[in-house]
Amino acid sequence: MTFGASSERRGARPLGRGPQDLTLATTRAVPVFRDDTVNVLGIWDGHDSGAALLQGGRLRFAVNEERLSRRKLEVRFPTRSIQACLAYAGLRPDEVDVVAASTSDPAKTLGRWWPGSKERYYAVRRRKAHPGSFAGLTRVVKYRMTEWSPGPVSKALSHLALRRQLAQHALTRAELRLVDHHEAHAAAAAWGADFAPCSVLTIDGLGDGLSATISAFRDGRLERVAASSARSSLGVFFEHVTNLLNMRELEDEGKVMALADYAAPIADEENPLLAWVRVREGVIETARPGHALRRALAQIHWRYANEQFAYLAQRVVEHTCVALACDTVRLTGLARVALAGGVVSNVKATRRIRLLPDVEDVYVFPHMGDGGLALGAAVVAASRSGTAVDLGLGGLDLGHGYETPAIEAALRVAGVSAEPVANLATRVADVLAEGQIVMWFQGRMEYGPRALGNRSVLARPDRPDLRDRLNLVLKRRVWYQPFCPSMLESEGPRVLADWTGGRNRWMTMAYEVSACYRDRLAGVMSVDGTCRPQLVPDNDPSDFAKLLREARSRWSVAAVLNTSFNIHGEPLVCSPAEAIDVFRRSGADALAIGPFLINKPSGDRVT
Ligand SMILES: [Fe+2]
Repeated sequence: MTFGASSERRGARPLGRGPQDLTLATTRAVPVFRDDTVNVLGIWDGHDSGAALLQGGRLRFAVNEERLSRRKLEVRFPTRSIQACLAYAGLRPDEVDVVAASTSDPAKTLGRWWPGSKERYYAVRRRKAHPGSFAGLTRVVKYRMTEWSPGPVSKALSHLALRRQLAQHALTRAELRLVDHHEAHAAAAAWGADFAPCSVLTIDGLGDGLSATISAFRDGRLERVAASSARSSLGVFFEHVTNLLNMRELEDEGKVMALADYAAPIADEENPLLAWVRVREGVIETARPGHALRRALAQIHWRYANEQFAYLAQRVVEHTCVALACDTVRLTGLARVALAGGVVSNVKATRRIRLLPDVEDVYVFPHMGDGGLALGAAVVAASRSGTAVDLGLGGLDLGHGYETPAIEAALRVAGVSAEPVANLATRVADVLAEGQIVMWFQGRMEYGPRALGNRSVLARPDRPDLRDRLNLVLKRRVWYQPFCPSMLESEGPRVLADWTGGRNRWMTMAYEVSACYRDRLAGVMSVDGTCRPQLVPDNDPSDFAKLLREARSRWSVAAVLNTSFNIHGEPLVCSPAEAIDVFRRSGADALAIGPFLINKPSGDRVT
């Protein structure tokens, strides 16, 4: 399949639009707040729903609903997240000034009025429900519908549906503002990067009729210079590939990327998929619209082994991302690039962008998928209200935290007796050195998809046998999916051969491991010799940083294997009670929770 004359501009959308075209989709006059105490609540009520609270332009709290409903990648309205934001700040609902919600296209609007359709889609996508006899037709209709852009009717109906939902939370005083899907992605990246002026590139499946955008970010304003239609979507292309590989779309795309490493390389000239997606003037063009891609992809898949098919598709993602990044720099004239959108979770593609000679610096927003839209919407609304937004993303510990008495109470309820230990980090380093697996519950829960030393499972990074034990016993992950390291930032220049600085500290970027460190990081590397590290500042006062310093003296690199504190199929743990429960059901050896270090009785161990 190649491009025909009739499809020349299929992916194009009129360009050169000024910032006035980014006007928020509201149905009534928007008041302007100049008060720095304005409370803006961002919400997202789709895939991986959640909420985020900005007070006076500063980010106070952010959480995704899955952590509270205990259903992974929750799609229901973020009731618990909203309540958690308000509770953290001690706000009454009538003290919220603005509620910002993103996306008002017809498909999203339908889901707001008919939540059952979201539930059905959720069950099928997670392979908990069979797609049924009309799966092919249903799929085409779904993709066709999601390609439609928002219009006055869908915006008005979305506004009304959200108003009704908010009324159930007594959020009747707040002004409701609808924010464009890709503008919310872009705002999160632009303000999160904190290196303006910069260009902003968003790439995802689709939302509000678009699949990618390029913007210039100057003086606190985003000016969009290019946009790709939802009909031509790199994200949808990769979703189809994920589905054809019998994986969960919108969830397992990282597995496809990992599987690609195991393919016998195929020359680009022999890759039939490379001709299917191209970029012209910052706009993605696909040979067929997203709803028609799957059948054609299935015919290609039939000819290749799974890992080879994954490889072919991964090359398309990398080529397209690189082409988009080059056009981004050229169109905006800004060589620093901030990235967001689900596709930029592909760390091998973002690594290629980082290494481009035209790109001076790159930043990947750490909650790049739709789960980060609540924060992005809040940023857009706050900045348009005249509030100076300062996300201050020095850390991502933005969720629930628990003081020692609350942890003690949870231990008591669980019938666990424990005494606080002195030098917790040293004790845990000793346990890890013996080859044990430790669950680590400290401080406030992380925002975004990664465990970053607050709700983590830890092991030595140099033991492939521990990696395999984790995979088999605790995580039940596919064998080819690598774990990630957390390391002190000072290790970066020594350990990572293509080190370019520590801007991407939260497992959002692949780096090549230096040859002399590959044995010491054997449990946290991909088969191609790259890893996706968390970089912890050396002067970080946390016990986690102290643990990494202890690691250096024990296994000659200030790094640990760090994976999320959950059990297969469940979200990251949030509360102490959940941590204790998962610990008991897991094959881990010890739990470091608050000041307590609890060893599992030998009879409970699973090996
Ligand atoms: Fe998105």
